[in-house]
Amino acid sequence: MSLPRITLRLFSPMRPPLYRLTPSITARARAFSSSLPARSEIVPAAPRTNILVELAKARRTIYQLGKNSPVPDSKIEELVNAAVLNVPSAFNTQSTRLVVLLHREHEHLWDIAIDVFQNLVKTGAIPEQVWQKQTLPKLQGFKAGVGTILFYEDPSHIKPFSEKFSLYKDQFHPWAEHSNAMHQYFLWTGLESLGFGANLQHYNPLIDAPVAKQWDVPSEWRLLAQLVFGSPEGAPGEKAQKPTEERVKIYGKQ
Ligand SMILES: Cc1cc2nc3c(=O)[nH]c(=O)nc-3n(C[C@H](O)[C@H](O)[C@H](O)COP(=O)(O)O)c2cc1C
Repeated sequence: MSLPRITLRLFSPMRPPLYRLTPSITARARAFSSSLPARSEIVPAAPRTNILVELAKARRTIYQLGKNSPVPDSKIEELVNAAVLNVPSAFNTQSTRLVVLLHREHEHLWDIAIDVFQNLVKTGAIPEQVWQKQTLPKLQGFKAGVGTILFYEDPSHIKPFSEKFSLYKDQFHPWAEHSNAMHQYFLWTGLESLGFGANLQHYNPLIDAPVAKQWDVPSEWRLLAQLVFGSPEGAPGEKAQKPTEERVKIYGKQ
């Protein structure tokens, strides 16, 4: 089976846009729908920071997931396309790759993970009791959801930059991971905005080889994270917050 290609599409925002376009721009946009307005022609609308903050507050870790998808799959595809088109990367390397597994493909992923772990139980690496009481119910909980997004990095898009900009050569690897994490956060929050619940997992590198084989993932791509989502069927857990004063310093505030 070949990898799902992420096609370029217009993203239909679920909420009002943060910027409004001047009439001349909308007229031009109608005439040349592919041309983008110059930055100077974009008029900032009223501050809407609160939308971002509300979305950030709503994003939580939800482990109890079900299959009652709140939107058609096309909305998930639009959101994923919006992530790859709008999340920034260092030097615009665009090295993040996403594989989206929905419904039966998603279930297959977690069956693969269950197989991998069953083999570890057989070798004694994982005690039978831990497997039965903790690991298996957790993996079955992921399988109960609607989909999983696999986050990869394609090193072939990073290496040329490391060679060209020798001053920063050791930075491109961490920068790629920063950008990958931004995709994770965008999609975690975006899925929440569509009405899903989600949780972030790291079963790499244990599942890398069978997953690459099943979905024809190029062997050089590095799997970094798995975002599992479904209908939210439970509440998020309690979350302790360290004081903001410990974590933020502001200088020059007026
Ligand atoms: C970089 C990162 C890695 C994480 N890895 C895991 C993970 O492997 N398994 C898991 O269940 N949750 C994982 N989480 C979820 C965190 O435990 C969770 O986000 C945190 O406790 C705060 O709770 P909240 O997501 O409800 O705000 C991860 C979160 C982040 C940001």
